[in-house]
Amino acid sequence: MESERQVALITGGTGGIGKETALTLANEGFSIAINCTSEPSKYVDLKKEIEEKGVKCLFIQGDVSNFDEAEKMVKKVIEEFGKIDVLVNNAGITRDNLLMRMKKEDFEAVINVNLIGTFNMTKHVVPYMMKKRYGRIINMASVVGVGGNAGQANYSASKAGIIGFTKSLAKELGSRNILVNAIAPGYIKTPMTDVLSDKVKEEIKKQIPLGTLGEPKDVAKLVKFLSSEDSSYITGQVIHVDGGMLM
Ligand SMILES: NC(=O)c1ccc[n+]([C@@H]2O[C@H](COP(=O)([O-])OP(=O)(O)OC[C@H]3O[C@@H](n4cnc5c(N)ncnc54)[C@H](O)[C@@H]3O)[C@@H](O)[C@H]2O)c1
Repeated sequence: MESERQVALITGGTGGIGKETALTLANEGFSIAINCTSEPSKYVDLKKEIEEKGVKCLFIQGDVSNFDEAEKMVKKVIEEFGKIDVLVNNAGITRDNLLMRMKKEDFEAVINVNLIGTFNMTKHVVPYMMKKRYGRIINMASVVGVGGNAGQANYSASKAGIIGFTKSLAKELGSRNILVNAIAPGYIKTPMTDVLSDKVKEEIKKQIPLGTLGEPKDVAKLVKFLSSEDSSYITGQVIHVDGGMLM
């Protein structure tokens, strides 16, 4: 029955990891809500691809770093589907530079989208999850949020913040059957890492025991697991998908 279908809301759902996550959860029978920053009409092909799997798909345009827009997006999903079972806080940006050259605006922009965006969406979704006494929140962190990275002080601070946020919420919401986990991807082949030169990619590969960059599906498969009944005793964790890069 349509009303029994689980509903997943994925922010940044048109990017590399987000799109793969949407397709993977659609395969599992989830109704899919995708947050995007451009006009939804740009994504008719993705919508069709998801709906061909026999599930509904809603695109909602909005900026996660804007508190009011986040609220409107969540309300639209509730109007359409009546609930949100899984929230994947995946929207993220980089503005890399060494501290000496990093502009205040670049530090703030990354914190606003990655960390405050995660807060904004979670803040508006959690009341609905509490009512249902069920929810899965999956936050996209990064290995850089655990190990740091020269040239990414803003990004690693945002991702380390997401990890603290994840653990605190896991403690706050466990009694309501809302599980909160973070994924820490290493280097995954997406538009975010396409900007790296081949030379830099070769250097990165040398630090990865499995010797290669990851694929979006490597992350999406973990989102699938964390959205499923198979992970029902796992909360407050930061799970690395990084080919062994950071141990
Ligand atoms: N690719 C990697 O190697 C890697 C590694 C670690 C963590 N991550 C994290 O995974 C997540 C997905 O990254 P990706 O590699 O797929 O990158 P991507 O650039 O392909 O996707 C990012 C998505 O976020 C969206 N977005 C940006 N600003 C937004 C805003 N203000 N509001 C709503 N959406 C916004 C973009 O439109 C895009 O769809 C990010 O949080 C990123 O930090 C990626």
